[in-house]
Amino acid sequence: MTSAPSCSPGSPVAARTDSPQVSAHRGTILHFLSDPGDSAAAGSYELIEDGLLVVANGRIDAVGPAQALLPTLPAGIPVIEHGDSLLMPGFIDTHIHYVQTDVIASGGRQLLDWLEDYTFPEERRFADAAHAASVAEFFLDELLRNGTTTALVFCSVHETSVNAFFEVAERRGVRMIAGKVLMDRNCPPDLRDTPETGERASRELIERWHGRARLHYAITPRFAPTSSDEQLQGAGRLARAFPDVFIQSHLAENHAEIKWVGELFPEARSYLDVYDRAGLVRDRSVFAHCIHLNSTDRTRMAHAHAAASFCPTSNLYLGSGLFDIAATDAAGLRFALGTDVGGGTSFSMLRTLADGYKVAQMGLQRLSPLRAFYLATLGGARALKLDDRIGRFARGTEADFVVLDLRATPLVARRIEQSRTLEEKLLVLMTLGDERVVAQTYVMGQATRHAVDAGALGGASANRAQSLHRSHAVSPQRHP
Ligand code: GUN
Ligand code: ZN
Repeated sequence: MTSAPSCSPGSPVAARTDSPQVSAHRGTILHFLSDPGDSAAAGSYELIEDGLLVVANGRIDAVGPAQALLPTLPAGIPVIEHGDSLLMPGFIDTHIHYVQTDVIASGGRQLLDWLEDYTFPEERRFADAAHAASVAEFFLDELLRNGTTTALVFCSVHETSVNAFFEVAERRGVRMIAGKVLMDRNCPPDLRDTPETGERASRELIERWHGRARLHYAITPRFAPTSSDEQLQGAGRLARAFPDVFIQSHLAENHAEIKWVGELFPEARSYLDVYDRAGLVRDRSVFAHCIHLNSTDRTRMAHAHAAASFCPTSNLYLGSGLFDIAATDAAGLRFALGTDVGGGTSFSMLRTLADGYKVAQMGLQRLSPLRAFYLATLGGARALKLDDRIGRFARGTEADFVVLDLRATPLVARRIEQSRTLEEKLLVLMTLGDERVVAQTYVMGQATRHAVDAGALGGASANRAQSLHRSHAVSPQRHP
């Protein structure tokens, strides 16, 4: 554990007196500097018990002990008192489908039947721009309610779904990555593109959206069974033409799926090799699931700087299998967490961590609480190669952060009270926590949760309103 501030408290918070966009947040600050692994590797995180996070024009300006930083603040800067709530970087979800918001909790089937019975029919509705826009609004509300500030998102095969998503995300100022699904076979005819139309539409969407505001594009072949080799080659061409664009797909999730891929691509060495031969395994490629891989494939992914997204709630719900953390680590393969809504059962990264912990237990492995929160923050940013901007607190990084209320429910409060160490507290938060624990979510320094809650919660929000009040009252205090 270290308590050294990452921005020197000695240097005054300067040149900000002229800006109305400066604020400071006081609370317990926790963020990660590296992967803590199974045990609390020394220096892997920074915990500042009474800390101050200074935000200027949407970016972190300083982080350090409140006692040291408060005297350096120019007069009139509002200090928002969060009591003993935890301030952490916003959560990062490395695999989610916005077009499956209304598929969540449709069940009783394994992957391939679930796709046919629930998912494809639902995704059809995203040909309609108004429907797509309204789901995108709900989806982003839900992410923010749960403290997730960045996600790698599947849209549907329709360009309308991508435009609607990016328009809403741009308006809200969130950092999001998304892409149009490519799918030219083995799915309902009205959900198919062709190698030519899919490539052309993806190119146009990249040119329109990639790098605009805080948005990035991801080339998105759904998975090997729904793309011909010709389509995958086209996706590879796009990847070569746009080297800083993301790539996302599914890989080695379910035994029947893997067998099917073997039949469809007999010339490929493995499921991963289908993507690899098309040039889709590289830096900024993120493959969801990666459950049933061998060490050759894991090592190949690691060498290519690709990443895996571990989606425990989905893997349990669809009965897909248990992600092997130890084998992934042994191969040096980077991974982070994904909710995989709607195969996944929650938008909450806390619930996702809880199921990740149980998946590890089932494999006689360990997901330490410190590592779990690392994976949900800096680990996610690293998997997406965005750690220069998000996932940690350092001067100049974007001020996307969450406030976690240690007394959000009576049970959480009781168990936190009984916890001695940081690890014990984090285990309580991830085991018992969900959106109720997320008292506030800030995007580029702006609070998001008041608007979200006012719109959607009605009577159920009474508890939260109290906790918001407790955590978010802007201190009348003004520092000289
Ligand atoms: N494989 C191909 N498509 C999907 C999907 O939508 N969800 C999941 N979990 N796996 C997939
Ligand atoms: Zn998925």
